[in-house]
Amino acid sequence: MTAIQDQGGVDAFLAGVATDLDDGVLPIRAFSSPELHQLELERVFAKSWVYVGHVTEIPNAGDYVLRYVGRDQFILARDEDGEIHLLFNSCMHRATAVCHAEKGNSSHFRCPYHGWIYKNNGDWNGAPHRVNAYPRTMDPQQWGLRKAPHVDTYHGLIFVNLDPDAISLTEYLGDMAWYLDVTFGLNPHGMRVVGDPHRWVAGANWKSGAENFGGDAYHVPHLHRSGEEVGVFPNVDAALSGQFHIAVDGGHSIVASRGFLPEPWVLGAWPPDVAAIFELDKLTSDQQEFVNNGWCATVFTIFPNLSILHVPGVYDAQSTPPVMMTALRQWQPRSHDKTEIWNWPLEWIDAPAEFNRLSYDAMITSFGPAGLFEQDDTVAWQGPAEVGTSVFARQTMKLNYQLGQGVPGGFGLVEDWKFPGVATTSVYDEHNQLRFWKHWQEKVSEK
Ligand code: FES
Ligand code: FE
Repeated sequence: MTAIQDQGGVDAFLAGVATDLDDGVLPIRAFSSPELHQLELERVFAKSWVYVGHVTEIPNAGDYVLRYVGRDQFILARDEDGEIHLLFNSCMHRATAVCHAEKGNSSHFRCPYHGWIYKNNGDWNGAPHRVNAYPRTMDPQQWGLRKAPHVDTYHGLIFVNLDPDAISLTEYLGDMAWYLDVTFGLNPHGMRVVGDPHRWVAGANWKSGAENFGGDAYHVPHLHRSGEEVGVFPNVDAALSGQFHIAVDGGHSIVASRGFLPEPWVLGAWPPDVAAIFELDKLTSDQQEFVNNGWCATVFTIFPNLSILHVPGVYDAQSTPPVMMTALRQWQPRSHDKTEIWNWPLEWIDAPAEFNRLSYDAMITSFGPAGLFEQDDTVAWQGPAEVGTSVFARQTMKLNYQLGQGVPGGFGLVEDWKFPGVATTSVYDEHNQLRFWKHWQEKVSEK
């Protein structure tokens, strides 16, 4: 383990982090540092494919919602031709926000300050007194809203990249695309959002949520035991016994499970009337084998800050059956020690209405602003955000990421894993978290 690098500059600190991660430790400063946070905005959020919304949030021409990349606010809009744009919500005259509604439908945005007008594809469309006040040579092409150079979708998930030189979304997702197929590609009509995303602020660093959802099954029997006790989680130990981790390149990571729910549920998780809407022949033979064997990508993180929750829950264990619930979750960085958490409940477009209702009810009982699990997690995640700014802690603390390492019969890699990525033999390891942090260290170090 290296000496603690609290006094050095950011470059020296990050070099030390690389060495520390090889030893399975992480200096607390990585969680809560204004200077590192600024670098993250520049080198991670402005250069990654970042999730901004779901196509079913803006189904019609003119629909728009306000969204964020890092801490910058954008308008996610569908133009009159149906094309999706991510427009920087800032007027080219004096930088006033041109859109103040969270969502709506409009062919144009008119700035409230002096009245410049923009089309919903971002083009400049005029200004008050234009003929008398601005020269005829004024080039409208120059004065449109700034916009993300790259917008793309995968299974209805809209991602953007602010870097003009970015690789394609498919390349960025890499093997993670395979696991999105076996999650969202079971039915050709896919899933849709249920209402607006829930959102609330937690006193946590955004990476606490991202690393947790990428591989921290270890906390579930402890932090969330009360969920079982009050009947909103079926059986904590049984749910974890079939789980393992999968890491794929690009900093993406997955908690996977096999056989969540027994017969009469089928494919490990679904009541027969829901499984009846699946069309597995749209998947590759490997993907069909994964699904038919009852495997499921359960909880995962797409680097940097999108997580997906796909687990069984129950609204009331006395009167309703356990159901699979699915949500997109985003860890929006507000500062080094504040995160706005967004939660989009999803439902299958073709599933029976009663299943979708039970699934939504189970979701809001366990996750979301009133969810039991959520309250557990966000209190625990305040620790790194608060302690990371402590002078004493920064001089004395490196966190332990050695779970399962070097334990005979404990942590190991599945040598004959035939699907994409690297799979582990159990969930009692922190392999995925180490890979997440190594990827973060590489990205935040790139100049
Ligand atoms: Fe928008 Fe002046 S700031 S028109
Ligand atoms: Fe949790």
